[in-house]
Formats: sequence, C-alpha cells, structure tokens
Amino acid sequence: AGARPPAGLAAPAAIFGEARRNSRGFDLSDEATLARIEAARNGPVPDAAPLTVSAGSGTRVAVANPATGELVAHVTEADAETVARAIDDARPWDAPAATRAAVLRRAADLYEAHFGPIFAALAREAGKTLPDCVGELREAADFLRYYAAEGEGATGRPRGVIAAISPWNFPLAIFTGQIAAALMAGNAVLAKPAEQTPLVAAIALRLLHEAGVPAGALQLLPGQGGTVGAALTADSRINGVVFTGSTETAQTIARAMAEHMAPGTPLIAETGGLNAMIVDSTALPEQAVRDIVASAFRSAGQRCSALRCLYVQEDIAPHLIAMIKGAMDELRLGDPWRLSTDVGPVIDAEAQAGIERYLESKANRILHRIWAPKQGHFIAPVLLRVEGIDDLEREVFGPVLHVATFRAGELERVVAAINARGFGLTFGLHTRIDSRVQEVSDAIHAGNIYVNRNQIGAVVGSQPFGGEGLSGTGPKAGGPLYLPRFFAPAEPAAPA
Ligand code: NAD
Ligand code: ALA
Repeated sequence: AGARPPAGLAAPAAIFGEARRNSRGFDLSDEATLARIEAARNGPVPDAAPLTVSAGSGTRVAVANPATGELVAHVTEADAETVARAIDDARPWDAPAATRAAVLRRAADLYEAHFGPIFAALAREAGKTLPDCVGELREAADFLRYYAAEGEGATGRPRGVIAAISPWNFPLAIFTGQIAAALMAGNAVLAKPAEQTPLVAAIALRLLHEAGVPAGALQLLPGQGGTVGAALTADSRINGVVFTGSTETAQTIARAMAEHMAPGTPLIAETGGLNAMIVDSTALPEQAVRDIVASAFRSAGQRCSALRCLYVQEDIAPHLIAMIKGAMDELRLGDPWRLSTDVGPVIDAEAQAGIERYLESKANRILHRIWAPKQGHFIAPVLLRVEGIDDLEREVFGPVLHVATFRAGELERVVAAINARGFGLTFGLHTRIDSRVQEVSDAIHAGNIYVNRNQIGAVVGSQPFGGEGLSGTGPKAGGPLYLPRFFAPAEPAAPA
C-alpha cells in the first residue's frame, strides 16, 4: 500500500477500475454458444481450408491436425531475407497511450466475438480440448485488457523493435500476451509463432490489425526457430526479445544476443519447469486427487506449469495412489472437439515419439497407464514410480506423472531436493497444517505456489505468472512489473 507505480505506469486507480475486469469466458452448456462452435467446426478454418499463411520467400510447409493428421494449413515460411525486410519496415506505434489502449481493448472484443473460428483453429492446429480453448481465449483477452489498463496513462518511450518468439502450447494466449505488452509500450513488434501453430497466429494478427494496430507496428514472421528465430536474435537492430519456450532455446538466444546485440538489450524469457507437488498426511484426499489429475494431465500435460513430480507422505500413499489410478481410469481421450474429451493429443509425431521413447526406457517403473486412441498423436496418461525428483532426467512435456513418497520428518529434505534441481516455476502443496503452508512457501524456490488447489491456469492480473532460476528471467506475465520492461529506461536527469 502506498507504493509508487513503476516508472511510466498509470496510477493504481486507473488499473483497478472497470478496465481491469477479466474475460467472462464462454458457457459450454449454452445451446446458442454450442451451435456457433459446431458451425465453426463444420465450416472452413477460418476462410478457406487449407489456408495459406503467406509470409515470405521461404519454404511452403503443411500444418497437420495432431488428432487426425488432416491438413489444416499451408504456410509459406519466412526466411532470413524476409526477417531483414521486416526489420526495415518496422515502425514503432506513434499514437497516444490512450489510443493504443483503446485498440487493444477493441482487439480483445474482436477475439471474443470470433470465438468459433478461433476455437476451431486451436482444436485443429494445436489439439486443444474445448475447455482449453475457452481458457486460452479468456487468457488472451485478459492480457490485451490488462496491459491496456496498465499502460493507458503511461508516458514512457518505446524501446524500438521487439522480437516476440512464442511456443505452440499457448499459441493464442502467450503469443498475444507478448505482443500486447510490447505494443502497449509503443514498440514495433515482429511476432514469430511456433512452427506448429502459424494459423492461430495468423488469425490473431488479422484481428489485431482489424482493431487498429498499424501494419508497420506488428508483422508476422512464421517459420523455423533455427532460421527466423535465429535471424531475429542475431540482428543488432532489434531492441529487445521476449521469448517463451524451452530453457535450452532461451540459453541459445541469450548467447546470440550477447554476441550480436547492444549491451543491455533486454531478454524476457519464460521457460520450462520440473514442477513438484507435496501432499502430506493431513490433506483431503478427494481434493488432492482432483487437483493432481488436473495439474498433471489437463492439456495432455503440455503446460509449462504442469505437475511433473508428486511427493506423497508414506502413511497415505497406498490409498492416495489407488485413488489417482481410479481417477485416471475415468479420463477420456479422443477428439478434442467433443465435450466429453478430457485429454487431447500431444502436438506432433516428434513429441509423441520422444515421450514414447522415454516411457520405454522407464517401463519397469510404470505404476499405471490408461488407454489411448491408436490414430493420431495420443499418449495415454501414465503414472511412474520414482525415488525422488532427482530421477527425472528432464522436463517430459506430456501426460507423464512421476510419484515418490516421503516419511514424516523428511519434508525439509524433499524441499531441498526440489530446489536443488534449479527450476522454479510452479509448486503445489496439499496440507491442512497452517504453519506448514508458511514454512514450505518460504523455503521453496518457485514463481507460483498453489495451496490446496491445482497448480495450472494462472489468472492474468490476479496470479502473475513466471518462474525463477532455469524457469525464467521474470518479470511475471500478467503482473504489474511486466509492462515497464518494454519501455526504454528513463533518461538520467540533466545536471542543474
Ligand atoms: P521451443 O523452445 O522449442 O520453441 C519456442 C519458440 O522458440 C518457437 O517459436 C521456436 O521456433 C523458437 N526457436 C527455436 N529455436 C530457436 C532459436 N535458435 N532461436 C530463436 N528462436 C528459436 O519450445 P516449444 O517446444 O515451442 O514449447 C514448449 C516449451 O516451452 C516447454 O519447455 C515449456 O515448459 C515452455 N513453456 C514455458 C512457459 C512459461 O510461461 N514459463 C509457457 C509455455 C511453454
Ligand atoms: N499460464 C499458464 C498456466 O498457468 C502456463 O498454466
């Protein structure tokens, strides 16, 4: 209370007004909503299928539906020459902050109005289930409105040209969040979506331009990370990079920037995690099981926030693990578009093969595995027995949950083992001991700590999201410290 807002930002009064409201979302029990979704499912995506996202002079590639193999889009990818031209054409958005905020809010309204085609693209291109489509569109609209509210009274200067590099697992929300913050600060943005999800990105760009973002302030550069991403991060005319993806790619980008860009050029990186949850013997089992299953298997485990390593206190482990197996048996895999589907496919054949190889190497540790469709890139949710988080070789980006047990009195050792892995994204705790909540929260190194609930689905503005250590540089997305990073540092005051 009483703290001054960060440089360049509006006073808190402007932040917590009407403009700060989160998206209302979509009611999947409403017949009119479902009729529009069904019409989008059966209709072309969004204008013509297969759709051509034409960006440049590079290679033309096909994008396939991960659940069915059906052709979704053709993309003419950008190459290094296209990137160079886009940087030449980039123009910071020279409009008053209030105008930029109004345009971002209009874009949020347009996103929500076009929910049918957007859901169709998310399901067809990224294999998102309908509840995940709803969550993703809400988060994207929230980012647009949140940064609009945060920045509308801002007086800071833009940095210049920002490269925004995003992953396939939130092809609308993270893609939009990066762009919205960079634009709200008046920068020009070159947006490079993941190679798997150019269609969702193309729809978003179309709506952002329709809302009033000038062409020179926002350009789309679909293409390969090793060409488009590498060209963007090795060009000294880029004034900042905002990246979400794997820790390894963030490290590659940091090295390229250090070699090619001016000292002090900011890199905002949100990366992976080896996220843990601790369930002690006082936890409410029914609630813990529901939250474990959601955290580990929702979105087919393809969330950076997803639970990877569960620690259960020995006394309750047999009972709790039996309940987890029972809950896993209830999960339905299949067509992401069906309301009854809980778990969709993983993103592509490469991801599927990598996870299957990992599971083959751990075959003797499998405690439980359910059924998955044979067609499409599905991985059946699986529970693996481990001694502790040290047994996890890496972040396995799919519906794979590792479970370990601990004895009463070993909590400190468990927390130290989790911290020692060096990641720090999400952490979950189920306990009914009040003092333990404080002790563990103080000791654990994680950006987002969730108590007696699931550990996914941070809400913009209420739960700023981001990690520490190998999980990211900060500042947290959807929080008050994010937008200021996109403004140029204040000039030192002239000597009197
Ligand atoms: P990725 O690192 O493979 O790719 C991310 C983006 O980087 C893509 O657009 C890709 O084309 C680009 N890229 C690849 N090589 C590049 C290079 N040399 N230079 C510049 N750009 C390059 O990640 P992914 O597979 O798309 O996404 C999954 C990963 O993202 C997981 O590790 C997940 O934990 C992480 N993630 C983190 C968050 C977060 O908020 N912390 C959110 C979502 C996903
Ligand atoms: N923000 C996303 C979540 O919290 C990654 O699950």
